[in-house]
Amino acid sequence: MNIPAEEPVISLIKERRSIRAFSNKEVEPEKITELFEAARWAPSAMNEQPWMYVYAGKGQQLHSDIVETLFPGNQSWAGKAPLLIVSIMRDTFINNGNPNNSALHDTGMANYAISLGAVSLGLHTHMMGGFHQEALKQKLNLSEGLHPVVVMAVGYAGSPDDLPEGLKHRELAARTRKPVSAFTFNQIL
Ligand SMILES: Cc1cc2nc3c(=O)[nH]c(=O)nc-3n(C[C@H](O)[C@H](O)[C@H](O)COP(=O)(O)O)c2cc1C
Repeated sequence: MNIPAEEPVISLIKERRSIRAFSNKEVEPEKITELFEAARWAPSAMNEQPWMYVYAGKGQQLHSDIVETLFPGNQSWAGKAPLLIVSIMRDTFINNGNPNNSALHDTGMANYAISLGAVSLGLHTHMMGGFHQEALKQKLNLSEGLHPVVVMAVGYAGSPDDLPEGLKHRELAARTRKPVSAFTFNQIL
């Protein structure tokens, strides 16, 4: 397994981007384990770790089942991703059944850990909220209190030339961000 040398964190953060063009190359099982290891060490309220992940490699029936629940705009490219990961959160604390108002936040942090871990392994991720909640819940047979948060497409970068023209354009477009000054304040708002 060829894991690139350790990189400074900020560079990992900037390198992460939501690609749509994935190569056919499979994600090695050891790397899949590493991705979930990254999630494992994410912080969470009361150390509840309210996340769960269901994953499927291309070729598995489960992969097609997940793709079917995506919005059409996502199906067009995510169906080709070699690995799909469904991020799921539990909305109550296991020990007392009380609502866990941090579950979405904490699951998002675990997802971000996965996405940064992926970059360090030479992989890319693309999170999608564009899926049919109920359809995905049913496909995965999720019990009450478990909710899909995002579907993540994961794999090695492919060639943007293999995407339809509109998506290719988006893939190659410059990334945009608000300036730091637009969201940071050193005074009462
Ligand atoms: C919760 C969430 C839901 C998203 N849903 C979709 C989606 O359904 N389809 C899609 O193409 N991208 C989706 N994205 C990706 C965003 O569009 C992307 O993160 C944003 O444009 C910034 O681009 P970057 O991730 O390459 O920096 C989603 C991202 C997040 C965090």
